[in-house]
Amino acid sequence: MRKGFLLLREFISRPGMVGAVWPSSRALARRIVQLGRVSSAKVVVELGPGTGAFTREILGGLTSDASFLAVEKSECLARYLASSLSKRPGHLSDLPKVVQGCATRLADLLAKERFCMPDVVISGLPWAGFRPMVQKKILSQISEVLAPGGVFVTFAYFGPHLLRRGRFFRRLLDTQFEFVERSATVVANIPPAFVIRASKRFSKEKTGSVAGSKEPFGINCGHTSHGCCCNSLSIS
Ligand SMILES: C[S@@+](CC[C@H](N)C(=O)[O-])C[C@H]1O[C@@H](n2cnc3c(N)ncnc32)[C@H](O)[C@@H]1O
Repeated sequence: MRKGFLLLREFISRPGMVGAVWPSSRALARRIVQLGRVSSAKVVVELGPGTGAFTREILGGLTSDASFLAVEKSECLARYLASSLSKRPGHLSDLPKVVQGCATRLADLLAKERFCMPDVVISGLPWAGFRPMVQKKILSQISEVLAPGGVFVTFAYFGPHLLRRGRFFRRLLDTQFEFVERSATVVANIPPAFVIRASKRFSKEKTGSVAGSKEPFGINCGHTSHGCCCNSLSIS
């Protein structure tokens, strides 16, 4: 089935969860990748990849020593994406991973997959459709797992961002991150959308464990010592 129709079908059965009838445009995907500084990232996590509109652009921008994990809640979309990526010629030394799971349990998922703290988290999640409690839960998970100096990049449709839940999400970002920036509107997307990049001040102290795991996931983590996904995170 064509990607767009697959997303549309998922939207019809779970509108609140999918939040979009059609995949994002390449123009929006490029803006996301550019603002996420994907080309200098070592560990990238994508939340809500859907049919992979951002995923393909992210993978194209990663260096060969980077690791990538996508977390998709819909079983059908996760299966579709995993299968379509397996057919794609890749340049990464570790294969891109797609797991079916919920972003509210991000820390546990990363621990289970033995992933280091991501230096970039990219979201395709429909924030304006989520209840405030869900927004809070996911954002605090992102904030918890993000490496020091890491960035969180997401998008919002122009219009719905002014609705109650959209405004709540924007305020929430300010409580969790120190720097929150917004791109110009990408009009080539249907509907037009803009990108938000949120980051924290770099602090070397941030090391710890992913919830429920004994694995370290801080800047000190190393493949050889505990079998994590990367040798070290190079954050400058
Ligand atoms: C708006 S669509 C975006 C799809 C794709 N990133 C794009 O831009 O075309 C949102 C995606 O987030 C997924 N999703 C919704 N809630 C989620 C959650 N809690 N955890 C992981 N994925 C979720 C949906 O299943 C859907 O695939």
